[in-house]
Amino acid sequence: MRSTLRNYLRAGFPLVYLTSWEEVRVESDLKSVCAELGFSLHSWSVTEGLLDVATGAARDVQDPIEILSAVLEMPEKTVVLLRDYHAFLGDDAQPVNPLIARTIRDLSRVMKTRQQCLVICAPILRLPQELEREVVVIEHELPGRPDLGAVLDGIAESAGLPAALDEERDRLLDACLGMTTSEAENALALSFVETGGLDPQVVARQKAEAVRKGQLLELHENPGSLDEVGGLDLLKGWLLQRRDAFSRRARDYGLPTPKGLLMVGLPGCGKSLTAKATAAAWERPLLRLDCGRLFGGLVGESERNLRRVIQVAEAVSPCVLWVDEIEKGLSGSQSSSSTDGGTSARVLGSMLSWMEEKTASVFVIATANDVSALPPELLRKGRFDETFFVDLPGEEERAAILAIHLKKRDRDPAAFDLKALAKASEQFSGAELEAAVVAGMFAAFEAGQQLESSHVGEAIQATVPLARTARERIQGLRDWAKSRARPASGEC
Ligand SMILES: Nc1ncnc2c1ncn2[C@@H]1O[C@H](COP(=O)(O)OP(=O)(O)OP(=O)(O)O)[C@@H](O)[C@H]1O
Ligand SMILES: [Mg+2]
Repeated sequence: MRSTLRNYLRAGFPLVYLTSWEEVRVESDLKSVCAELGFSLHSWSVTEGLLDVATGAARDVQDPIEILSAVLEMPEKTVVLLRDYHAFLGDDAQPVNPLIARTIRDLSRVMKTRQQCLVICAPILRLPQELEREVVVIEHELPGRPDLGAVLDGIAESAGLPAALDEERDRLLDACLGMTTSEAENALALSFVETGGLDPQVVARQKAEAVRKGQLLELHENPGSLDEVGGLDLLKGWLLQRRDAFSRRARDYGLPTPKGLLMVGLPGCGKSLTAKATAAAWERPLLRLDCGRLFGGLVGESERNLRRVIQVAEAVSPCVLWVDEIEKGLSGSQSSSSTDGGTSARVLGSMLSWMEEKTASVFVIATANDVSALPPELLRKGRFDETFFVDLPGEEERAAILAIHLKKRDRDPAAFDLKALAKASEQFSGAELEAAVVAGMFAAFEAGQQLESSHVGEAIQATVPLARTARERIQGLRDWAKSRARPASGEC
């Protein structure tokens, strides 16, 4: 942010809008840039009035128009930081006060010649159309390791703890990435109160909360393991081959950073399961994006939401960003101009260009059931590294899936006739196999017996798998996948 701001000030931009939750960090960045360029810095808020940051001299100006005029009395080369000025710029319900809009536009011409600049700092971007062309917007990125390191050292010092070093420091900073400095400060302080030390787990838990507050992303803590995914050998092999792809070693070797993976397939066959397990196998955090919320927002809001998602994902990177059931959010994006003014199509466009251009180590795993709802641009080369088709499990895979679910419930798979059960469960999905194990357990429990093959076998007999009733849809999906996707399993 500093370099962008420096350039804007040097180029004589009179109006800058900075979106950030972190006034303190913004002010300290502004201070150092102003000092470097020989600008004086003032700050203003409704509660504090106008303050000369260097001398502390205050002037009692509360009126949002008066503060604008006050700028003209200030010397050349001055920056005025306006805190929360978005409150005076109108919103969807209420237009901006025309006097404010006009004054800002008049001022901007004069300020340009005097090398003065108004910097609006607010947590959200609220820019009336009248001012769109006058103002440049900077998004203050979330703090990186050096900033968070300073917070960490500050907390350690005030708590009387030795400074965290090496690996411990790395783990604490990893846990802090994705939070604002004040969130990180609070999380570290809480960890000290709870444990008497600085514990990355407590910090990570706080981060999960902070991320969830945005309502779009969720940080999964225990995402499972690839060993819990039965079958899908080709897909799992592909994923395991890339487990160290974000490492420095891989970069030095000349490997490109993986972009992402699209999994298309039948319901209940392990797509979500695999997405979660990938993050665990790669030992990276897993962020789950709620597509419906992202694409379903109001015009303007959706774009802003996407920027925030990207910001958090990049701050937490290397990480896995899981976009589950992407078609749900996109349904109708091709024709969305008629339904939502083109919002979801536009947001998808921004997301795709981010995916194509991104340099941060964010691996996107998208899953989809219904390919007819997927816009063709999503499938174009360069977006995802690979598209995998997840079909119903073959016979051997079914045996492996049954074994996994028996083991999960503390039963020894060797005591079951997995071969016969797998044979009897043709066209079953993984989810249906799991359900049969559970149903078998209920039957055995009710009869006061230990679970045996026969219980599971009966449950299988009693089930009509979805695939039998959805034959046409499945065939359609297979035909689609033949030319567009790689099979996730070598067995089918
Ligand atoms: N290959 C598999 N190995 C082990 N368990 C499986 C497998 N496939 C499915 N399951 C079981 O079924 C549950 C549902 O699977 P999952 O949510 O991954 O399906 P999905 O492909 O994402 O389906 P949908 O398209 O409906 O979202 C899993 O939590 C898991 O318990
Ligand atoms: Mg799923």
